[in-house]
Amino acid sequence: EDAEKMANFQTRIDSEDRIEANDWMPEAYRRTLVRQISQHAHSEIIGQLPEGAWITRAPSLRRKAALLAKVQDECGHGLYLYAAAETLNASREALMDQLMEGKAKYSSIFNYPTMTWADIGAIGWLVDGAAIMNQIPLCRCSYGPYARAMIRVCKEESFHQRQGFEIMMTLAKGSARQKAMAQDALNRWWWPSLMMFGPPDTDSQHSDQSTRWKIKRFSNDELRQKFVDATVPQAQFLGLTLPDPDLRQDEVTGNWIYGEIDWEEFKQVIAGNGPCNQDRLASRRKAHEEGAWVREAAAAYAARQASRNAA
Ligand code: ACO
Repeated sequence: EDAEKMANFQTRIDSEDRIEANDWMPEAYRRTLVRQISQHAHSEIIGQLPEGAWITRAPSLRRKAALLAKVQDECGHGLYLYAAAETLNASREALMDQLMEGKAKYSSIFNYPTMTWADIGAIGWLVDGAAIMNQIPLCRCSYGPYARAMIRVCKEESFHQRQGFEIMMTLAKGSARQKAMAQDALNRWWWPSLMMFGPPDTDSQHSDQSTRWKIKRFSNDELRQKFVDATVPQAQFLGLTLPDPDLRQDEVTGNWIYGEIDWEEFKQVIAGNGPCNQDRLASRRKAHEEGAWVREAAAAYAARQASRNAA
């Protein structure tokens, strides 16, 4: 019977049917989605920290307002994604506990420090640019609640990418010191941004199954290549140099061939040994503890409302 259910499920996937929360699904499909969606949610939540650090130091009111809105958007994305994971019977509290205990993964990129204001430009341009490249295809993911959440997320990411590019543009066209700051931020964020797409296809353990289930529409290396091809002309437009001496355009395909990525660094960062892993988790735990009174007040209010309704 299970074999028949499995076959029917794959037929639905193959015909581009959307799977919804109450539909039958293989346990491994549910687990894969909870893994990916929760890691994605954690990335949005932790992703607030490196940029949040610059809200008080933004160089103008206009920059502060845009950055504040952006960081709030990331928080909203995390909440939609936890809600999408809840449709798969994963409890939000359990997922958050896993994050705070250091047992859950989140994107490697958020374990690097934001050293100067130019980093806020580089993050918007590169990190949000990479996120869009990866997330546009997720709008067509086979699981309905995840796919629908991605539509709004992608619209907001595209605003984030533009605000980042505009910061880079202002710095790159500014004084020599400002341009040097922009170049320095690009030098530090370029390689970690390429790592966001995950390990090379040959080492990507989940890709084959996730592709058959149409959770993934493109491989890690395909998306990485699309990102490089889109970003090289933007760097040229800014008059900045990508920190890759091996970068060259393939005459036949037009693709930009990039140099070797330091996969050892990637492994270290996802194993918890990146420059800021400890600091990020400590900040997250502190925020959670400091928010305890809000959760308690909300629970007390809900209990009072419930007893009033019962009376
Ligand atoms: N940072 C941390 N962990 C990573 C990264 C990364 N950049 N890339 C891959 N990994 C992890 C995977 O989660 C997986 O770990 P697990 O088995 O413990 O769960 C392992 O490395 C092997 O990788 P893959 O087999 O390639 O994993 P997968 O098929 O899930 O592909 C990818 C990875 C592309 C990141 C996918 O999960 C995805 O598209 N996720 C949704 C997007 C997302 O999470 N974006 C977060 C950053 S964008 C932002 O928040 C602004």
